[in-house]
Amino acid sequence: MYYIGIDLGTSAVKLLMMDESGKILNVVSKEYPLFFPHPGWSEQKPEDWYEKSMEGLKELTEGFDKSKVKGISFGGQMHGLVILDKDDNVIRPAILWNDGRTTEECDYLNNVIGKDKLSEYTANISFTGFTAPKVLWVKNKEPENFAKIAKMMLPKDYLAYKLTGVHSTDVSDASGMLLFDVKNRTWSKEMCEICSVKPEWLAKIFESYEKIGTLKDDVAKELGFSSDVIVAAGAGDNAAAAVGTGTVGDGRCNISLGTSGTIFISSKKFGVDSFNALHSFAHADGSYHLMGCMLSAASCNKWWMDEIIGTTDYAAEQKAIDKLGENHVFFLPYLMGERSPLNDPYARGTFTGITMDTTRADMTQAVLEGVAFATRDMYEVAKSLGIKIERTKICGGGAKSPLWKKMIANILNLKVDVIESEEGPAMGGAMLAAVAAGEYSSVEEIADKFVKVVDTVEPDPELVKKYEERYQQFKLIYPALKPVFAKIK
Ligand code: XUL
Repeated sequence: MYYIGIDLGTSAVKLLMMDESGKILNVVSKEYPLFFPHPGWSEQKPEDWYEKSMEGLKELTEGFDKSKVKGISFGGQMHGLVILDKDDNVIRPAILWNDGRTTEECDYLNNVIGKDKLSEYTANISFTGFTAPKVLWVKNKEPENFAKIAKMMLPKDYLAYKLTGVHSTDVSDASGMLLFDVKNRTWSKEMCEICSVKPEWLAKIFESYEKIGTLKDDVAKELGFSSDVIVAAGAGDNAAAAVGTGTVGDGRCNISLGTSGTIFISSKKFGVDSFNALHSFAHADGSYHLMGCMLSAASCNKWWMDEIIGTTDYAAEQKAIDKLGENHVFFLPYLMGERSPLNDPYARGTFTGITMDTTRADMTQAVLEGVAFATRDMYEVAKSLGIKIERTKICGGGAKSPLWKKMIANILNLKVDVIESEEGPAMGGAMLAAVAAGEYSSVEEIADKFVKVVDTVEPDPELVKKYEERYQQFKLIYPALKPVFAKIK
């Protein structure tokens, strides 16, 4: 039997098909545009997601026996606001996870309603990218659109709705809306009232590994699949990636270097970060996790390579880097503002320490190191909460770079376990579909069976020492520039 995982990302949708033993049969990727209508805003068209996913599903299964497709599920970019009218038309482009327009709404939620109340109702505080402040923004700035809302949903749930007709969501993705009572895995009545969200707009909640329905007849016909194909709720992309990398159960860690950068720590027990720097969310395995999210990670390197130095050969640029731990150039990776741990939409990217002898390689190195130092900032918060880990998995586009993995291992002083497949969220989505179909009894069982570590990057004590010094220097830059960022916004 075949299982399909759809990773609805920010730059592209990635689709993966595997058999019931976890063997990957095919992987397909389809890009769609990302719109920045104002500085700091970020939008996409849900219609593009559906069109490209359908194209991808056809390409993915071409030449295979389609009657063997048994289940589909998702890992989806989190927090995005999709609103539909009473006829199921998309009212306006989706406002994405890395959009910073809701500073006023966040101030209202965090300071007028108050962080304590938000934390009591949802286990989290407000960040500009979260869904609830976006609903308030639509209410305040686009009342004509707000008046039309009949349903609201998250990006991957829009896909699920188009495929099945079922308005569903899962606990991990719902956690990032700030409308969800994470501890009790249900909608927060209080938060919905505060944000003027009507109960009938909201989706039915499922665990990530539960079946929400089957394909609609017309969709199954268009794809050439049986209409018995089950669709499972799926997860936010980070929880799906955690499943795909075996970061389930207690105290395991995954670092994702994708458009965003995240550190994800699984936990059997519900817990809240008292500093509110890490998010406290439900996990796709039925338990919980803490997560920090940087808004720009591999996207910093992509920006530097594609837009600034103008090359597509990332590996060639990295080959020229030979002085690890000795770079005097620092890069702040806050190209879209920053979420964890700074919660500062006005933070910006900078290079610091450039001199006449600075080379292109030094600057490329600074970009990669800047992302790793900012990942360390999130890891430091986890350590301050008493979390002890020795090793991490790694996934996302950035995980393809051996140099970046080495930087992560030495800057965080963690063993980095490299697994067979870097397709975290798509693989996790396919695994959730296989559990929903009854092929495996739990997410932990399938993760233990499927995920194989093929290599480990060990930190080197000499380099750890050198990087420790550099990290202490890196840490001085943002606090010094914070007042400047607030003025040049
Ligand atoms: C997580 C987050 C990002 C997106 C990226 O909180 O905002 O990782 O999910 O797709």
